[in-house]
Amino acid sequence: MTCTPGKPCEEGKKRRMAFAALGILAIIFILLSMLSFLDSRGQVTPDTVSYGAHDAVEGKRVFQAYNCMGCHTMLGNGAYFGPDLTNVYEQAGPAWLAAFLPSAGGWPTSAAVSVHLQDPAQLAASGSSDMDAYLKRYPGAAERVQRRGGGTTFMPNLPLTKEQVGQLIAFFKYTSEMNTEGWPPKPRVDGLKSPLATPFPIIGVANAAEATGGATAGVAATASLDPATHGEQVVKEFACTACHSLDRSKLVGPGWGGLYGSQVTLADGSTVVADDAFLAESIRAPDAKIVAGHVAGTMPSYATLLDQAQVDAIVAYIRTLPGDGQ
Ligand code: HEC
Ligand code: HEC
Repeated sequence: MTCTPGKPCEEGKKRRMAFAALGILAIIFILLSMLSFLDSRGQVTPDTVSYGAHDAVEGKRVFQAYNCMGCHTMLGNGAYFGPDLTNVYEQAGPAWLAAFLPSAGGWPTSAAVSVHLQDPAQLAASGSSDMDAYLKRYPGAAERVQRRGGGTTFMPNLPLTKEQVGQLIAFFKYTSEMNTEGWPPKPRVDGLKSPLATPFPIIGVANAAEATGGATAGVAATASLDPATHGEQVVKEFACTACHSLDRSKLVGPGWGGLYGSQVTLADGSTVVADDAFLAESIRAPDAKIVAGHVAGTMPSYATLLDQAQVDAIVAYIRTLPGDGQ
């Protein structure tokens, strides 16, 4: 800036004004920065959110370790192969997530979600008294069960332990509680069921509308069927095939093809014969004997949900599955 000859020189004055404006802006910047760190804005922090014994910080580590962002977005960040997960806890609730995450290759049926509500801690965490109350409280779970329950998904089965599943649920609980000012916007889609999603092998897509009525309503009506057919229906209703294939291939759990009567090697190195007693025990108390190559805690216990006749029927069904072919 130069001073025009014959006019009063204003350079010093203008410089002072510029510095004053800069100073005011710097003060505003510092004040707003400080404000953004104040707890009083009601924003949750991850170390204050827990689900059972798990806190959200642990869950974030699991989320990063498995690179879930390679397929999903979280708060709009990430990749677009899978849906945004910011509000999935608020929409579908903890029991649906507990049913989905260990066997992500298959969408949980109503009965598969209700298995997790048998756990009093899970019931308390979801703030519901029973399955009906749960579906009312988490309409996203009812919608997912009705539209997709029993079908296959585009997400791979990941080897998540029970511990890691709990930690991830804590993380999703935290992200659901964040005040994101309405982000992400609700997607506008005509239908969530992709025509590419195929039903489970052999067993067709469960009649999910019927299955949402009550966990065992559909099964009670079929009790007069022959045991193997009855067993097939129970298996379909509880979506056991999200974890067990009907041939020899390993999914989340061991395949059932040719299992009956075979020698099963357990994690401790011993072997057992897969007879009626072993299969029934595996259904009621899966952690009593762990099959080699698997970890405890992945399969939920069905002891309180399936009665003797249903367990016998499943065993009769497994007995019919041939081991050849694969
Ligand atoms: C290879 C890609 C891929 C990876 C990795 C992946 N997902 Fe997914 N996920 C998907 C896809 C695709 C879907 C939707 C499935 C469909 O519509 O068939 C999905 C669905 C989900 C859903 C259900 C969302 C809803 O709104 O119903 C959850 C929850 C989820 N994933 C959690 C995770 C977590 C947690 C991880 C990491 C531990 C993870 N995903 C890793 C691809 C992936
Ligand atoms: C979330 C995944 C998951 C679901 C759902 C599940 N299982 Fe399993 N299951 C496993 C895993 C993992 C194992 C192996 C570890 C063990 O022995 O507990 C297993 C083991 C078994 C075995 C032991 C015998 C063997 O060698 O295969 C039987 C029988 C069985 N499951 C039956 C069922 C039935 C019946 C249902 C449905 C009512 C069911 N499972 C649902 C994961 C699952």
